Amino acid sequence: MASNLAYSISSTVRFFRSLPYEYRHIVLEQLTGPASSPILVIQLSFEDDAWLYVATTLPMAIDERNWLSADRLFVLFVALVTVLGVSFWVIRGVTRPLARLARAARQLGDDLEAVPLSERGPREVAASARAFNRMQERIRSQIKERERLFSAISHDLKTPITRLRLRAEMLDDAEQRERFCASLDELDTLVKGALASVRELDLDESWKIIDVRELLVSLAQDLKVQGGKVSVAGEAATLRVKPLSFKRCLANLLENAIFHGDRAAVTIRHGAESLDIVIRDHGPGIPDDQFQRVFAPFVRLEPSRSRNTGGSGLGLSIARHIAHAHGAALNLANHPSGGLVVTLHFPCRTVPCTSLR
Ligand SMILES: Nc1ncnc2c1ncn2[C@@H]1O[C@H](COP(=O)(O)OP(=O)(O)OP(=O)(O)O)[C@@H](O)[C@H]1O
Ligand SMILES: [Mg+2]
Repeated sequence: MASNLAYSISSTVRFFRSLPYEYRHIVLEQLTGPASSPILVIQLSFEDDAWLYVATTLPMAIDERNWLSADRLFVLFVALVTVLGVSFWVIRGVTRPLARLARAARQLGDDLEAVPLSERGPREVAASARAFNRMQERIRSQIKERERLFSAISHDLKTPITRLRLRAEMLDDAEQRERFCASLDELDTLVKGALASVRELDLDESWKIIDVRELLVSLAQDLKVQGGKVSVAGEAATLRVKPLSFKRCLANLLENAIFHGDRAAVTIRHGAESLDIVIRDHGPGIPDDQFQRVFAPFVRLEPSRSRNTGGSGLGLSIARHIAHAHGAALNLANHPSGGLVVTLHFPCRTVPCTSLR
């Protein structure tokens, strides 16, 4: 063992001497310096007197006592801030157009005339925005075309109906004449209803802040003239609406409460999250399984009961269309002690409303 060590030392000395003179001080410094990197020396014997020496410095060993030094922390901090900053910038660049797309999709139902989306941004997002804009354009033109067609048909039907009525008046058979006229009256109501529905579904009007209570009180006064009893309770609150359409919606609901349900009691409820306009009447209500059906155009329940109102079955359909265009829900329920309860529910998150209390 001792002889091996002696041999190894003598070999190392020989190796040292064999180094070019100008490198010797580097090796010496490495061997003697206090915080120098360790040196790895590999010596392989080929023959008795022939050795291969390989010497290299190893990476600096981590000083266990000071591995979390201030400058290391600083470098880590700068790297972290840079990575976070760049990631935030990249993610924001991708998610912003996506958020715009989601907002536009939400608003599409309410406002078909909304400005088209910007088609810039990452390739996939730009393609989605382009597809969305094309879809919006197609829906808009189809709705316009449908309304134009509907108005044209309704309008063109009016002239032949009038002509037929004149001819019917000339019939000699009284019974035939009466039946003919009744059928024509029915057709006339349908045509008028169709025209009214096209007109009333046109919500091309600007938004305005109104006082809900004030509007309901003025509607109640108008209906009183027609013999309707309407009471208004609850606090005053403002709401951002399209005034004429919103008035039409409330009027349809109040007329239903009066004509199908005797009298209307309206309550305005303004909570932290929503504004509710609740209309209750004292009529027979609507069977639970018919709640969806009565919203369909031209649907009237028990025609014998509601014939005297002369309606066409469009009131609820129009009211719900207007409610949805305002971001509100229109719900029906039967009161436990009789009568229908109609609730217009405006979530304050989407519909700006404030209490005036
Ligand atoms: N408050 C109510 N109480 C009982 N039934 C109701 C009430 N409101 C609506 N209905 C039923 O729902 C049907 C549809 O109502 P909707 O308002 O759409 O049409 P309408 O009142 O018959 O005619 P109009 O087009 O003039 O409003 C009514 O015919 C009626 O049968
Ligand atoms: Mg009605």
